[in-house]
Amino acid sequence: MKLLQKSLLLMLFTPLSVMAEVHPGKVLHDDANCMRCHADLGYNQPELTKMAPTDIKGLKKAVSFCDSNLNIGWFDDEKQDVVDYLNKTYYKFDH
Ligand code: HEC
Repeated sequence: MKLLQKSLLLMLFTPLSVMAEVHPGKVLHDDANCMRCHADLGYNQPELTKMAPTDIKGLKKAVSFCDSNLNIGWFDDEKQDVVDYLNKTYYKFDH
């Protein structure tokens, strides 16, 4: 019983992101509500967007573009996390 209580307590105080090992870029991306538009625009769907980045540099530019237009104010390392998350999930560019 004690062990059960302990593990329940541990679960309560462990952030969800640690439990499921969520990509830090996904957390930032979800917090910034990027899907408000990109649920429709998608990512890496060149037939839907003009931007259509073709490499990791272009992807970083696109993330910076939306970050500054929406006044999100991500630091460079945060943008890098989001770029990495989007690349792993949608683009699969070589670094
Ligand atoms: C208000 C709507 C809107 C929101 C919110 C938004 N974007 Fe965008 N995003 C756009 C538009 C518009 C484009 C350019 C589409 C085009 O080129 O035709 C774009 C393009 C992009 C692209 C390039 C997509 C591709 O494959 O061509 C990326 C990456 C991107 N946004 C990242 C983000 C991130 C990260 C966030 C969250 C901070 C975000 N966007 C939030 C409207 C939005």
